[in-house]
Amino acid sequence: MSRRICSGSLFEVSPPLLMKKKSLSNKPRLLDLFCCAGGAGMGYSRAGFDVVGVDLSPQKNYPFEFIQADALALDPKFLASFDAIHASPPCQSYSDLAKRNGNAHEWPRLIEPVREILRSTGLPYVIENVEGAPMIDAVVLCGTMFPGLRVLRHRLFEANFEIIAPPHKKHPLVHTFDRRKAHYGKTDEWRDFVGVFGGGNCTVAAARDAMGIDWMTKNEINEAIPPAYTELIGRQLLSQMAVAEKMLKSA
Ligand SMILES: C[S@@+](CC[C@H](N)C(=O)[O-])C[C@H]1O[C@@H](n2cnc3c(N)ncnc32)[C@H](O)[C@@H]1O
Repeated sequence: MSRRICSGSLFEVSPPLLMKKKSLSNKPRLLDLFCCAGGAGMGYSRAGFDVVGVDLSPQKNYPFEFIQADALALDPKFLASFDAIHASPPCQSYSDLAKRNGNAHEWPRLIEPVREILRSTGLPYVIENVEGAPMIDAVVLCGTMFPGLRVLRHRLFEANFEIIAPPHKKHPLVHTFDRRKAHYGKTDEWRDFVGVFGGGNCTVAAARDAMGIDWMTKNEINEAIPPAYTELIGRQLLSQMAVAEKMLKSA
């Protein structure tokens, strides 16, 4: 089991903030920053959070309450009305593609300012991004760790609580349309791992199935993380919040 003990700890979170912001549905509230069409948000919802998304662009397919706004300019009182915050700032500047093309400087680098805002809230937080991004003590999640997923989508997750990743399995062959590859013609987009990116190598329907997402367009799926990743993180966060609450009550 790969395991990372975080540098911060949930128990450093100001006690009055723990599990105090229950929504009408009596669930803890999670703010999903840079939400796009809600891959991350869906995972937290499945884990048991009431989710509110924020994005600069309109998101007509976002499945939860949505606010169109600049995530870097939110009122601290609004941020404080949540139990936890997730942020998926744009990754282009940190991506291999931008590094190869030498144009990383053309994209905003938002991880540091976002981390500063999240830390200032005192709330449990998660920042998600691509490998190569300047994350602190991040855990890597991959599609091979989740039964049912068929994508090799490595993503880094930095948090101020403990995240335990499932075991990472050997990467399988990925479905291909490239006749030059030795396994051309031997894979199936409904059975094997597929590539979900720009051009991609499978139909939208197979990409949806592979990611565990049935409500997004192809462009939205290209941007998304599989909900299974944040469902795992959300469940771990909820159980750590419950332990922290118990400890406070018995103190
Ligand atoms: C990588 S996508 C997020 C994907 C999402 N986490 C998911 O799993 O579906 C990044 C999003 O950040 C949004 N964005 C970029 N700058 C922003 C800003 N300053 N404030 C809010 N959203 C922003 C983009 O519109 C885009 O939808």
